[in-house]
Amino acid sequence: MEYSRFYYCASLILSISGLVFPVMVGSIGINYGQIANNLPAPDNVVPLVKSIGATKVKLYDADPRVLKAFANTGVEFIVGLGNEYLSKMRDPEKAQAWVKTNVQAYLPATKITCITIGNEVLTFNDTGLTDNLFPAMQNIHTALVNLGLDKQVSVTTAHSLAILEVSYPPSAGSFRKDLVGCITPILNFHAKTNSPFLINAYPFFAYKSNPKQISLDFVLFQPNQGIVDSKSNFHYDNMLFAQIDAVHSALASLGYSKLPVHISETGWPSKGDADEVGATLENAKKYNGNLLKIICQRKGTPMRPNTDFNIYVFALFNENMKPGPASERNYGLFKPDGTPAYSLGISGTDAVSANTTTTTTTTGAPAPPSPDSSSNGYLSISAAVKERCCSCIGQLLFPLLLLSYLAFRLAF
Ligand SMILES: *[C@@H]1O[C@H](CO)[C@@H](O)[C@H](O)[C@H]1NC(C)=O
Ligand SMILES: *[C@@H]1O[C@H](CO)[C@@H](O)[C@H](O)[C@H]1NC(C)=O
Repeated sequence: MEYSRFYYCASLILSISGLVFPVMVGSIGINYGQIANNLPAPDNVVPLVKSIGATKVKLYDADPRVLKAFANTGVEFIVGLGNEYLSKMRDPEKAQAWVKTNVQAYLPATKITCITIGNEVLTFNDTGLTDNLFPAMQNIHTALVNLGLDKQVSVTTAHSLAILEVSYPPSAGSFRKDLVGCITPILNFHAKTNSPFLINAYPFFAYKSNPKQISLDFVLFQPNQGIVDSKSNFHYDNMLFAQIDAVHSALASLGYSKLPVHISETGWPSKGDADEVGATLENAKKYNGNLLKIICQRKGTPMRPNTDFNIYVFALFNENMKPGPASERNYGLFKPDGTPAYSLGISGTDAVSANTTTTTTTTGAPAPPSPDSSSNGYLSISAAVKERCCSCIGQLLFPLLLLSYLAFRLAF
């Protein structure tokens, strides 16, 4: 009897913590772009990803070297199917072959959980490309169903925030009218297949195009007065949350208020051209440092409080071969040699500097940091992020203990 009570109580406590803990563990995602000719070998990238506390990685392709390097690491992967392959995927056999080669081959050792079909397709304004998007998503999903993988791998696409016609105030968020026709079947697909809606959101772009009107503190998550959405009465103290809630409003206006919204990209460049106001090392450090803290605090947006953030920071590395303005090549948290591009400004990381990290091998690739070296810069970042996440866990520990105590009283 005593034992059965004990087990009842213990299992109750376990199931309560099972409900609470997955929501509490800090879950940072990072985009691993590779438009560069000087990046470290994927094997050496594993410790870098771990050092920032990231548990999720998003690729723009399905690079076999990366997927192999991350086997049995527990890191979750979003793999990408590039825009250039969409037309081919109209053929169901080619779609199935793609899934076999690029996804099934790596499961279950590499934890691929999602495939993004194309990136920012709808805002290219290329009707041919747009027409191929939905059939490609359907065919890849059907291939997953055929291979028995659809329960573990979802299918989605990543949109630019420019699919919105109105993004301010957040309660007035709506999609570009000319896109509603092609977005609606995609939303229906998400609802049916349980896949998330992905949006790339950059407060940097808004600030860059309007630096005189927009408060820098508001876009960098620094203390500021914030704004009140007069229709919803919600108070916003940062632009990213306002952008995310504008997406929630746009989805709700089409009847899809329940779709989970994930932020597939957000970030801030540490360098830019002379006319790119705000692209500085200091601002990048504030934006990304504060962002990581917010991900760990997991307080949700005003419209979706207590909802777990799924945010993928852009990006892991500076990418020297990206076209466009200088900012495009300077979004990385890390330089190509594996040293941090800047301190993330989280307590404990300020000591991190370029020369405490790696030694360069003769091949030019950084040696993997030794896991037990206390002077290792990567580990200092890791420790600081973990410390932050632990303090959020600390905040939730009291209610958890209270629940456990109540369960205990109930059982005895
Ligand atoms: C696409 O079309 C929209 C609406 O017509 C326009 O506002 C936008 O600038 C265009 N984007 C590009 C990249 O051409
Ligand atoms: C590298 O380390 C030395 C001490 O070991 C320090 O004086 C120097 O400032 C560091 N350089 C950088 C770029 O942080």
